[in-house]
Amino acid sequence: MFPKELVELAQKRIAPYQTEGFVTGKGPMNPKIMFIGEAPGRNEIEKGEPFIGRAGDQLNAFMEQIGLTRDDVYITSVVRSRPYKVVEKTDKDGNLIIKTPNRAPTKKEMVAHAPLLDYQIQHMNPSIIVTLGGIALKRLLGNEYKITETHGQLLEKPIYQLRNFNDHHYSPSKHSHLIFPTFHPASVFYRQVLKETIYEDFHRLGEVLDKIKFTN
Ligand code: URA
Repeated sequence: MFPKELVELAQKRIAPYQTEGFVTGKGPMNPKIMFIGEAPGRNEIEKGEPFIGRAGDQLNAFMEQIGLTRDDVYITSVVRSRPYKVVEKTDKDGNLIIKTPNRAPTKKEMVAHAPLLDYQIQHMNPSIIVTLGGIALKRLLGNEYKITETHGQLLEKPIYQLRNFNDHHYSPSKHSHLIFPTFHPASVFYRQVLKETIYEDFHRLGEVLDKIKFTN
């Protein structure tokens, strides 16, 4: 979906940071609904597909409730490479063990891959964007937007895009977009109570989708 030069540029921009692999996103090319996550994890990098690990199973369950399948939505993320940290541990025999767990993307990594997300939104022009988690919400609407205050609501706002590739500042888009924030599906693994909340958000999303007159 991306021009080759854009992928090369994005890979060059992310190279200084501790990330690996590249996942482009998946789904229909002319989607009514776009889901935006945070960044791929280890499973996604191995298979080259977004949301296929534990968080992906949870996402499928939320979607199923309102009759959505993966074929109905385009799924992408703010950063397309896996951000990781290096953790050194010593096991009980004194051997050094190096682990590289996932971590949240930094602001610089988000800027590095911003041309990709900007390109996808502009070219796919989804009727509605569902942000999964605070990172995607803030990337599109700004740091003052809090997931705890906006989840489950339909917002109509300009979204932040990079002004140009040599610039590290975002500016608001000319046109408004429909944005529906909810929590990241992986959040239920450390806060079980959110499961009910996300089911309610998806129920509301189902109602919103029934009302929207899709233009594409
Ligand atoms: N979390 C994300 O944000 N994206 C994935 O693809 C997997 C987990």
